[in-house]
Amino acid sequence: MNIILLGPPGAGKGTQAKRLIDQYHIPQVSTGDMLREALKEGTPLGLEAKKYMDQGALVPDSVVIGLVKERIQKSDAKNGYMLDGFPRTVAQAQALDGILGDLSQKIDHVVSVEVPNSELMGRLTGRRTCRQCGAGFHVIFDPPKAEGKCDKCGGELYQRSDDNETTVKSRLDTYEAQTKPLIDYYEDQGKLRHIDGVGKMDDILTRIKAVLG
Ligand code: AP5
Ligand code: MG
Repeated sequence: MNIILLGPPGAGKGTQAKRLIDQYHIPQVSTGDMLREALKEGTPLGLEAKKYMDQGALVPDSVVIGLVKERIQKSDAKNGYMLDGFPRTVAQAQALDGILGDLSQKIDHVVSVEVPNSELMGRLTGRRTCRQCGAGFHVIFDPPKAEGKCDKCGGELYQRSDDNETTVKSRLDTYEAQTKPLIDYYEDQGKLRHIDGVGKMDDILTRIKAVLG
């Protein structure tokens, strides 16, 4: 099964993707995580991407399309994958349709995780992520047992550099202008599944599983 997780910054795409891995045994393909990994390794691509990410803008389409094209052909994705944070522009969605056509694949469901803007800022500024295993936490909504320490692996928790108020505002604007049109794009393809993204994380997982079957 090939799934797209669509939704604004802070909607819970990553949170739910990590839960869905255990249920469906398919990998999470997060372009944001891939770009942050490239930056950590200090590659030219990572350093270039940082300029856009720090401003809450999108990295050029050609860069992320190339990353995804390569990633979905790796062996662990042979039974499917969850695209998290890709596509994010109509041009990316069209490119993806072309790539999948060439690979004789298709997207089965586009899960639109819907959360009002008023809730997103608090979710993002309170997010903490494990440096070691990537697990996500929230200082209020999902606090770790010991402050600053990952429950799963004991790794150090950090705050993403784009999770400050100024950058979040700009990320939300970018979403409205460039990514929201994908809702119509996939509605027209009959693939969009609306999910209420407000409430307990486990309840949202149940809602997603209900539409995926
Ligand atoms: P990316 O890393 O994809 O960030 P994003 O889309 O802004 O999404 P987030 O990861 O912030 O949100 P999420 O929905 O995953 O939320 P999470 O589950 O963590 O992209 C970063 C940047 O990379 C972009 O700005 C861009 O520059 C670049 N980029 C990436 N992909 C690109 C592309 N395709 N094209 C061009 N550029 C690209 O949850 C957030 C917090 O809320 C957590 O703390 C969590 O614990 C909490 N939470 C989750 N669910 C709930 C709930 N139900 N109730 C309360 N709290 C909750
Ligand atoms: Mg994420």
